[in-house]
Amino acid sequence: MKTRLRWTKNVLLFGGSAIWGLLLISCVMTNRTIVAPPSVAGATFVGSGECADCHENVTSSFHDATHAKMMVNGENGGEIGCEACHGPGSLHVRSGGGAGTIVNPGSSPETCYQCHTDKRGEFSLASSHPIGEGKMSCSDCHDPHNGDAVAGGVSSLQGVNDSCVKCHVQQGGPYVFEHEASREGCVVCHSPHGSMNAKMLKSRNANLCLQCHFQEQTATGLLIGGRDHAAFLNRGTCWSAGCHEAVHGSHISSSLRF
Ligand code: HEC
Ligand code: HEC
Ligand code: HEC
Ligand code: HEC
Ligand code: HEC
Ligand code: HEC
Ligand code: HEC
Repeated sequence: MKTRLRWTKNVLLFGGSAIWGLLLISCVMTNRTIVAPPSVAGATFVGSGECADCHENVTSSFHDATHAKMMVNGENGGEIGCEACHGPGSLHVRSGGGAGTIVNPGSSPETCYQCHTDKRGEFSLASSHPIGEGKMSCSDCHDPHNGDAVAGGVSSLQGVNDSCVKCHVQQGGPYVFEHEASREGCVVCHSPHGSMNAKMLKSRNANLCLQCHFQEQTATGLLIGGRDHAAFLNRGTCWSAGCHEAVHGSHISSSLRF
């Protein structure tokens, strides 16, 4: 289920200066949440326009990005964009990019969690990508500056797969016997952030597979894929040892057994 956040009127500016302490986000599905952008000691907000002078490569394509919506709403909307994630930039601009003057969320997910509060929980589940430990960052899979924040677009599952197989080369194949399920996307079976089930699976049992393979009780038995599976289903999961172990694809077994 996709939660849509929408910017209200939408940013509170405190005083005439460019200091804003709180962003007000109204969320269509839940109550209002107040989130604070990251802070930098002693710095004030200067607006995205200032960043273009030195980071043209980032600002030039930003207008199409998911988070650029943070730039366009409201009277002072143009003031927020970049600094919503990078924090107030006055010291950074004045020092011409001095070390330690700006927040880089690439090295910590905390900035993202400030607005996407539900994601902290997903990454704390028993089986999850090691974001908290600093081994990975949100931007390994989401480009904050260009286009749709979900790599390749949420609608383009091929784009999502490409981002997964960058690191998980083996599961991407190619295989002699492909499992067509992967063409639908790794996220048909895996939760990309985390899950209560081992291997970040969306389901711990046959339901994972029965999303697409139907079972039918007939006079000859419990048919799945045209074969009686009644006895097999007591052995464990569909991908247990001796069953469809090569669930991502196989070089030798058309029925993905090894
Ligand atoms: C006067 C030039 C200048 C301006 C204006 C400027 N920057 Fe920078 N910025 C730099 C330089 C130089 C660096 C360090 C070299 C690099 O990484 O490109 C840098 C680095 C960065 C980094 C990486 C920091 C890190 O620790 O990895 C971020 C993020 C950044 N700038 C964001 C911004 C934002 C947001 C703005 C607008 C509020 C902005 N910059 C305005 C010159 C500038
Ligand atoms: C949604 C949050 C977000 C917004 C909005 C955002 N950035 Fe970033 N920015 C990031 C993240 C995350 C990284 C680290 C990327 C990485 O490590 O691959 C980053 C990295 C950077 C860097 C370091 C160099 C680089 O490309 O790795 C610069 C410079 C930068 N951003 C400038 C900007 C400017 C200028 C804007 C506005 C036009 C902006 N950012 C808007 C999240 C954001
Ligand atoms: C200041 C608040 C804020 C921060 C910080 C922020 N986001 Fe967002 N993000 C939003 C809003 C608002 C939207 C919703 C835009 C929409 O629904 O059209 C959004 C949308 C997204 C989406 C797309 C969701 C979808 O349903 O298509 C992704 C992915 C995302 N953000 C990831 C990140 C990551 C990664 C970071 C940290 C680098 C980050 N965000 C930082 C406010 C924020
Ligand atoms: C391993 C890759 C990966 C990492 C790391 C990752 N995401 Fe995602 N994220 C995805 C994929 C893939 C989707 C699309 C899920 C779908 O289509 O079912 C997604 C969807 C989203 C969405 C929109 C749908 C939703 O679940 O609300 C948001 C917001 C989001 N991610 C935020 C984040 C934040 C914040 C971080 C870091 C704390 C992060 N993601 C780290 C892969 C990743
Ligand atoms: C930047 C590299 C990177 C990307 C991109 C990435 N992963 Fe991962 N993935 C990891 C790391 C690191 C681990 C944890 C270490 C390990 O156990 O191998 C992991 C663990 C996993 C696991 C659990 C493995 C286990 O043995 O418990 C699954 C499943 C998984 N990733 C699926 C995905 C999917 C699906 C995507 C795309 C949405 C994706 N990964 C994108 C690096 C990545
Ligand atoms: C049809 C469902 C399904 C699809 C689609 C799928 N996986 Fe898996 N994946 C599984 C199952 C089931 C396991 C657990 C296998 C086990 O425990 O032996 C698994 C395990 C993994 C693991 C842990 C290492 C391993 O092989 O046991 C990684 C990493 C992984 N998958 C990545 C991916 C990637 C990347 C994609 C997309 C290219 C993908 N998966 C598509 C079902 C799927
Ligand atoms: C997204 C849909 C989808 C999911 C989920 C899925 N499959 Fe498949 N699977 C297919 C399609 C499509 C084919 C190729 C057509 C066919 O044989 O039904 C296939 C083929 C197979 C085959 C080869 C059948 C043969 O003999 O040619 C096996 C075995 C298989 N899947 C097992 C599994 C297992 C085990 C799971 C759960 C871990 C699973 N599938 C989950 C879509 C899916």
